[in-house]
Amino acid sequence: MSAALAVVLAAGQGTRMKSRTPKVLHRVAGKAMVDHVLAAARAAGADRCIVIVGHEIERLREHFAGSDVELVEQRPQLGTGHAVQQVLPQLEAHRGEVLVLNGDAPLVDARSLGELLERHHAARAQVTFLTALVDDAERLGRITSDGGRVRVVEWADATAEERAIREVNTGIYCFDSAWLSRELPLLQASPAKGEYYLTDLIERAPQVERMLAEGGFALCIGVDTREKLAQAEREMQRRLRERWMAEGVTFLSPETVLLDVDCSLGQDTIVYPNTIMQRCTIGMGCIIGPGSRLEDTRIGNDCSIRESVVESAVVEDEVQIGPFCHLRPGSYIERGAKLGNYAEIKSSRIGRETQIHHFSYTGDAQVGQRVNIGAGTITCNYSSETGVKSATIIGDDASTGSDTLLVAPVTLGAGAMTGSGAVVTHDVPPDTLVVGVPAREVRKVRKAARS
Ligand code: UD1
Repeated sequence: MSAALAVVLAAGQGTRMKSRTPKVLHRVAGKAMVDHVLAAARAAGADRCIVIVGHEIERLREHFAGSDVELVEQRPQLGTGHAVQQVLPQLEAHRGEVLVLNGDAPLVDARSLGELLERHHAARAQVTFLTALVDDAERLGRITSDGGRVRVVEWADATAEERAIREVNTGIYCFDSAWLSRELPLLQASPAKGEYYLTDLIERAPQVERMLAEGGFALCIGVDTREKLAQAEREMQRRLRERWMAEGVTFLSPETVLLDVDCSLGQDTIVYPNTIMQRCTIGMGCIIGPGSRLEDTRIGNDCSIRESVVESAVVEDEVQIGPFCHLRPGSYIERGAKLGNYAEIKSSRIGRETQIHHFSYTGDAQVGQRVNIGAGTITCNYSSETGVKSATIIGDDASTGSDTLLVAPVTLGAGAMTGSGAVVTHDVPPDTLVVGVPAREVRKVRKAARS
């Protein structure tokens, strides 16, 4: 089968979205609607993608900067047939199939498109298109067949009898390129709306295949209102959860969890209620939630992330986070560390088996292994006088007493200790106890105190 050309219609204005964002750039499960459509087309074998745009072309150019997606302008917008006419020069140079899709129908999937292409090829048809059975009277084109001649009757032109037909046009087609190039210029404007209907091509084709899509109602969700956007999101979330459940992930309260298409979850991970995960890779055997939000983050195996917010962080295996932690961008947590009870971490590396519990802030720090950070310990990393952020280094096996302030830049040597309320303004040598304000050396740490 030769590679297909995909033409994605996205020139409609989308006024009903009431948005400053172009309609097709609204996101479903974290990804712009038009990108869902393009991803499905590519996965089904399209090697060249053209998007027809009409409004906010600059925003769309920006969105597609650096990608190989081609944008073609349609001005004015005179209907779906007119939209495809805009790519006649490209069609004439193309041999093989042309997929035509709607940019605002993000639930189209690669499997349906793959089947459509196969069916089209096998039937040697000029046009093959996907239909669906719907229960409600959406304003979609109805499928009729008089004496075997298949037609799509647009809602605006349909009689009451035709409007009662349950089989509708999803707006997803596969055309033979040469035939499409010949027929497109012959389209006439419809008397009802003065638009050039792409669907008029169906009755002109000598050989038409129609393929009733399984569960096709989702393919028909064309998002032109916020309500439809929410409907598409619900359906996409349902699919994503179904996918990860099939891979061995447990969702205790599935409807309360939000994922995006760029998340992956390992086997035997359990997701508790009210959890949001965006662009995350989560290992096996983890407990995520309840009430956690994770973004742009990689979590190893056998971790728990309870009631916490984790942003742009890396977490190795067997780490316990929460309840109520905030890992901000640049946090790297090594294996077996435990962070909880209002610990905030930013741009810091936390060593193996280190424990940071109880109301603390660790920013711009390198914390060694097996360190114990006492309640209320703060790295004072920012000087409001100079605007400079400075580093704190804490060696292996060090520990801080409650309410220690580490005034950066400062180093706490390996095995060093601070007393409660110490304000550490100078580097502390290894195995040394410091106390007071400002902290001063008292003595060497006794080995037993550390074990
Ligand atoms: C079209 C079909 C209808 C089908 C429905 C499925 C026609 C005439 N009718 O309906 O049978 O059931 O899709 O969703 O094709 N667009 C342009 N330029 C235009 C007009 C539309 O790019 O001039 C784009 C829109 O941005 C949208 C897509 O085409 O992405 C579909 O347009 P829409 O107005 O939603 O579809 P209808 O024409 O009502």
